[in-house]
Amino acid sequence: MNHGDNTAGGLLTGRRLVKAHGRTEALRGATVTLDAGEILAVTGPSGSGKSTLAHCLSGITRPDAGSVTYAGRRLEELPEKRLSELRRTEFGVVFQFGQLIPELTAADNVALPLMLAGAGRAEARATAGEWLERFGVRGQEDSRPGELSGGQAQRVALARALVTGPRVVFADEPTGALDSLAGEQVMTALVHTVRETGTAVLLITHDAQVAAYADREVRLCDGVAAPQGAAA
Ligand SMILES: Nc1ncnc2c1ncn2[C@@H]1O[C@H](COP(=O)(O)OP(=O)(O)OP(=O)(O)O)[C@@H](O)[C@H]1O
Ligand SMILES: [Mg+2]
Repeated sequence: MNHGDNTAGGLLTGRRLVKAHGRTEALRGATVTLDAGEILAVTGPSGSGKSTLAHCLSGITRPDAGSVTYAGRRLEELPEKRLSELRRTEFGVVFQFGQLIPELTAADNVALPLMLAGAGRAEARATAGEWLERFGVRGQEDSRPGELSGGQAQRVALARALVTGPRVVFADEPTGALDSLAGEQVMTALVHTVRETGTAVLLITHDAQVAAYADREVRLCDGVAAPQGAAA
């Protein structure tokens, strides 16, 4: 699952992105590049446009202006069907509150993306079990999200985001609802896994301790990205 092909110029690049929500200009010309396999922290004050940036880069939202290029393909030029297929196969997402499906067990939550991609239930559940193991939540297969701790639920959400072998994971405040110990466990598990798989991570966080796990940090301010440099 190692992704080693040539992606000179960045795997995922948003150029001069502009996006308004009603009268609020959430992005005002932000340019951000994510390289293959890198962990990029996106920081900045509340309302600076971090989540909007992630939504544009992941193709959930189409920007009003600017372009998003993923592996040489312009997302804005893809028809809706191709775009959703690309998102399903190449991207994974994790949010502050894992947003697991409450009616499904942990194993079925993780198995679901594989089944959507055509795997049979038994095979998907077996693979899901391996991913739960990787994230230290084996033994919770049959628990529903409401029966898990916050940190366990986030580790299940990470397993779900990574189970299909995406090249990019978008993590929007993945530890935002956790205490610092659980947050550390989630980050350690995430970093360990993506280093193995070569998955790139766009890591949105308010927390300097979380940003410190990244290779690089970009700070958004009023919808514009500050010059990018190495994380401190
Ligand atoms: N669906 C929406 N409708 C209206 N305004 C929105 C919407 N989503 C975001 N905004 C506004 O756009 C701006 C940027 O929001 P965004 O959610 O991208 O910020 P953020 O940096 O992720 O903030 P936080 O750290 O609080 O999550 C804010 O002023 C916000 O109020
Ligand atoms: Mg946000």
